[in-house]
Amino acid sequence: MKLRAAVFASGGGSNFQALLDHQTPGGSWEIVLLVTDRPDAGAVERARAAGVAVAVVSPVGRPADVAASELLRVLGSHRVEFILLAGYLKLVPPQVVERYRARILNIHPALLPKFGGKGMYGIHVHRAVLEAGETESGATVHFVDEEYDRGATLAQARVPVLEGDTPHALAARVLEVEHELYPAAVDRLCAAIAAGTLTTTQETR
Ligand code: GRF
Repeated sequence: MKLRAAVFASGGGSNFQALLDHQTPGGSWEIVLLVTDRPDAGAVERARAAGVAVAVVSPVGRPADVAASELLRVLGSHRVEFILLAGYLKLVPPQVVERYRARILNIHPALLPKFGGKGMYGIHVHRAVLEAGETESGATVHFVDEEYDRGATLAQARVPVLEGDTPHALAARVLEVEHELYPAAVDRLCAAIAAGTLTTTQETR
């Protein structure tokens, strides 16, 4: 039996696509649902092209617990067993974190714990890395808890910062490794779930 995943995305969804492309008939997991807060997100098109169900759940303009209940309901109705955040710009409600404890991953475009937290998303991350004079950056896959970018690290990949780098050039270099790192980390998560050895202890490679 494959483990059933939902991907949460707010943007273009290139990581979502990399996860879709990694799926094989004999694989240990499958994406059964895309959750987005933005009906115009590029990820929605990708889901439709791949025949993956889409749920648009926007927390804007209504009580947080109502949006959280809707998320839990839609995840339950698709029998989702774990969640992959891929460019999802909203905080996951605590009720969802609680229900899916140690079953939610995120990918962040920097070497956490550096350059994470509120406001550190997209191009802001790469700009901050360059401004700090770092000689390397990379991507981190980590477990999600109640705070932005704070859960235990599952996997990291590094890239060099090059002479004359712009934030966009660095972002492109990091994104390329994200597309390899994330599916591989999901394979590891699912192997650990299947073997009953899942922990959220720091396990950086
Ligand atoms: C990626 O850089 C990811 O690390 C971050 O948001 C970006 C999403 O890009 N969390 P995409 O929508 O997957 O192309």
